[in-house]
Amino acid sequence: MPVTAISGSASGIGAAVSTALRAAGHRVIGIDRSNAEVIADLSTPQGREAAIAQVLELSGGVLDGLVCCAGVGVTAPSCGLIPAVNYFGVSQLLGGLAGALAKGDSPAALVIGSVAATQAGADQQPMTEAMLAGDEPYALELANALGQPHVAYACSKYAITHHARRTASSWASKGIRLNVVAPGAVETPLHQASLDDARFGKAVRDFVAPLGRAGHPQEIAALVAFLQSRQAAFIHGSVVFIDGGMDAMVRPQRF
Ligand code: NAI
Repeated sequence: MPVTAISGSASGIGAAVSTALRAAGHRVIGIDRSNAEVIADLSTPQGREAAIAQVLELSGGVLDGLVCCAGVGVTAPSCGLIPAVNYFGVSQLLGGLAGALAKGDSPAALVIGSVAATQAGADQQPMTEAMLAGDEPYALELANALGQPHVAYACSKYAITHHARRTASSWASKGIRLNVVAPGAVETPLHQASLDDARFGKAVRDFVAPLGRAGHPQEIAALVAFLQSRQAAFIHGSVVFIDGGMDAMVRPQRF
């Protein structure tokens, strides 16, 4: 039975991925702040270390899969929390569990990114550079100083997508596949919080994908289950958009 660790397993996309992978025969080790096999706060270095140690203990040091879904959106209590969870919470989980994945059977890892990663200028922000350089205190300081959660969110998703792609190149020799799934709007508590927010609700409501609706968490989970399966054995280092046509609408010339 393949063993897969899933962060953010208690809600939304992570919960749907957990259900889909259990149905596909995986033993799931969920990681979240509550209602999970591993209770940990991925926003701090100590919390991430605790999460990694518990996953290694529960898996016996061997993992066949890792899916990083935990994330916070534009309604996070502080801007600094966005890079802390969405970038460092993911990159350190990937790094800390790479050894266990290398011992797994056809191992595969996956990061939930976002179409927001392609937002103009997200690749140019100093906070993006700080994330990619691994400087957490400076990245959080810059995010808090700018005070624009939608910019911090886009930067965190650009940086983690960039990080995953450069990591994929170095992981190939270890036999570990690594891909990014980039959803558009998906009906989850995170999305609902954006819709309900006085600052961002109208913009989120007005930004409708060509297919005219938001996605369902189960639709994202079906793609993740495929990418984590042996049928996807040649898919590595890819960014797969699942967004109702949003990326094609916004930047048809980029692919
Ligand atoms: P959600 O809010 O339903 O689930 C996120 C999960 O992450 C929750 O269970 C939460 O407890 C966990 N989490 C947050 N901070 C944590 C921390 N410090 N430590 C441990 N766990 C923590 O949100 P959703 O929508 O399922 O989000 C999953 C991923 O999908 C996120 O990375 C999000 O950025 C991404 N995404 C979501 C979209 C949407 O429209 N819902 C669109 C594009 C990307």
